[in-house]
Amino acid sequence: MSERPNWTSKYAFIVTTIGSAVGLGNIWRFPYIMGQNGGAIFLAVYIILISTICFIPLINELYIGKLTKRECIGAYESINRNFKFLGVLNPITGILIAAFYFIVGGWIINYILKSILNFNINDYGEYFSNFIQQPVYPCILTILFLFICIFVTAKGVKNGIEATNKILMPLLAAILIFLVIISINLPNANIGLEYMFKPDFSKLNSHMVLAALGQAFFTLSIGMGALLTYGSYIKEDKSLVKSVYTIILSDTAFAILAGIMIFPAVFSFNMEPNSGAGLVFVTLPKIFSQIPYGNIVSLAFFILLLCAAITSGISIVEGPCASMVERFKISRAKACTILFIVISVLAIPATLSFGYLSDFKILGKTIFEFLDFLTSNLMLPLNTLFLCIISGWYLKIKGINIIKNKFFALLFDAGLRFVVPIALICLMLIGLN
Ligand code: TRP
Repeated sequence: MSERPNWTSKYAFIVTTIGSAVGLGNIWRFPYIMGQNGGAIFLAVYIILISTICFIPLINELYIGKLTKRECIGAYESINRNFKFLGVLNPITGILIAAFYFIVGGWIINYILKSILNFNINDYGEYFSNFIQQPVYPCILTILFLFICIFVTAKGVKNGIEATNKILMPLLAAILIFLVIISINLPNANIGLEYMFKPDFSKLNSHMVLAALGQAFFTLSIGMGALLTYGSYIKEDKSLVKSVYTIILSDTAFAILAGIMIFPAVFSFNMEPNSGAGLVFVTLPKIFSQIPYGNIVSLAFFILLLCAAITSGISIVEGPCASMVERFKISRAKACTILFIVISVLAIPATLSFGYLSDFKILGKTIFEFLDFLTSNLMLPLNTLFLCIISGWYLKIKGINIIKNKFFALLFDAGLRFVVPIALICLMLIGLN
């Protein structure tokens, strides 16, 4: 078998893992979930959870990868042969996530083209719903976006994944800062900033806490073996803890900056912060049409979103790709071609579920909604739960081997064995209702 790839440097590992974490989850999902859950108080809860409870499964997944030096299925199998089927769930989850995540990637490409070709429309809400209902065009864009991610992945860990992340991540940060500066200079921007940073404690409730937890798990890419695979490419990293905190801090910074970019603009134009998934595709274009040089700002924004989506999309594909390469002993190109076909076959009906197939329901949900529900609410927490139980109760991993500080190591042990599994079970129970 050809040799397993490794990251060329610690920087490469960190930037790529941040690339996986920072995605549509930060720039599209985070602001609208925050908008629906009361603003600043949601942010406060989110920060507490992401820096404590989420730290544990994140480092655990990377650590298991680093320890076993195998792709997902092999990693589980090497711990105990009977755990193999739990490993198989990971690439399956990845493929199912890809089938809906990449649809949104396709929408972004459309909005980029629109921004270039002049984006003056009377009714942005109507435009968006007409666009996603079309039978052919959104499918072509989904496939195009999938192709981009697959192409990068096929080029390999060093020349494809690492190289792309090293270019796109700094670009992402630069565009985001540019847009934040524009946004906070809009009239009445302070109302948006207040909404983000002045908590209203009356909005605190258990539903919101779980929404924050779910968002934190999703944004850190925990639970489908993407991190395990990335962890398995680490050569030597004496302080995984530091790397993990850098990843969490950066991911949170990107999410907060995305909020600072979006909310002042929303309030400045008297719009609603809680419009849900359409916030980025309806509310923002409406704002862009009303500001000077709106086309350029719009173009910058959707390029930003595309960069974020590509670096995460790559990580979604890499898990299943690595599993196929190492298990079936086939080339990356071959594995990626097969993945391209399989994901397309799933993604096309999901894309059509906004129009042609909108009446086809599984458990009362359209295909798109069902894939999102199945992966985000069930499979991701379940995979994470299994891995925490395997580490905590079967391998009996000790925090002190990962974290030098004795006190924090003890907290880690308790978290891995009790707190995180309980939190995950609550998340699943609420999610299934
Ligand atoms: N974290 C990414 C985002 O915020 C999405 C993502 C990439 C993901 N890989 C994942 C989510 C693995 C769950 C599991 O958009």
